[in-house]
Amino acid sequence: PLIDRLFNAGETEVKLARKLGIDRTIIVPGNADLQDRVYEEMGEQLNSALNLLLPLGHSIITVLGGIDVAKSASYLSKQLGNNRQLEFVPGRGALGENVTTQSNTIVQEMAAKTLGTYKTLYLPEQVSEVAYRSLIRENSISSVLQDISQSDAVIHGIGLAQEMAKRRGYDSIRLSELRDKKAVTECFGCFFDDTGKIVERITQVGLQFENLKKIPHIFALACGSRKADAIKAYMPNAPHQTWLITDEGASNAILKEK
Ligand code: F6P
Repeated sequence: PLIDRLFNAGETEVKLARKLGIDRTIIVPGNADLQDRVYEEMGEQLNSALNLLLPLGHSIITVLGGIDVAKSASYLSKQLGNNRQLEFVPGRGALGENVTTQSNTIVQEMAAKTLGTYKTLYLPEQVSEVAYRSLIRENSISSVLQDISQSDAVIHGIGLAQEMAKRRGYDSIRLSELRDKKAVTECFGCFFDDTGKIVERITQVGLQFENLKKIPHIFALACGSRKADAIKAYMPNAPHQTWLITDEGASNAILKEK
């Protein structure tokens, strides 16, 4: 495809994309489990990919939280913002999540680097159905939700199910229920097993997994060999327009398996 020629996909990158059923993968050298510098290259690759794919003018970019996205965020460049008005919005409320890895913090960093703008969503990440229905009618919240629904791009991470459940305060009973359901990975509040079935989900204000497919450009950032199973379990569910930005640690582990 044209995009591959434009972006010089390597042989391994094409192989990995085929195996995962998505349009494109970008593999940076190293293994994030051992080398922190991997994030610098992941961030630079994200910057180049956004530069290639985003039109000039106004674009809305929805950003999710997590360590892999947070650590790559500071490598976006001022040049990406040339002739573009980039608006970064958090994919969901994230009070409770560590402040450095929550999307409210990451959007500020990305906006600062690219001389763009941002909005915040200071809400608990998990809310009851009743609270959800009234919260989404608040003006400040509905304006962010409106922007999310019109995003041109999404940047998200891919988490390990048990680790993400712990981060979200699951007690030992719920953790073992999740293990019984064979949850491997978590993305957008959905826990998936290794067949790609959603086995559990958290009610969240913000971007819903079902609406992801309407967004033109999707970037998944996940790296380190420890993430291999999570990436493999999530990707069959990902919209085809997803670009995975990863490292050799994860990619070698995925390609090794049948
Ligand atoms: O919280 C947003 C999110 O993208 C989750 O959907 C995902 O599970 C997690 O971040 C990944 O976090 P980390 O990069 O810290 O493993």
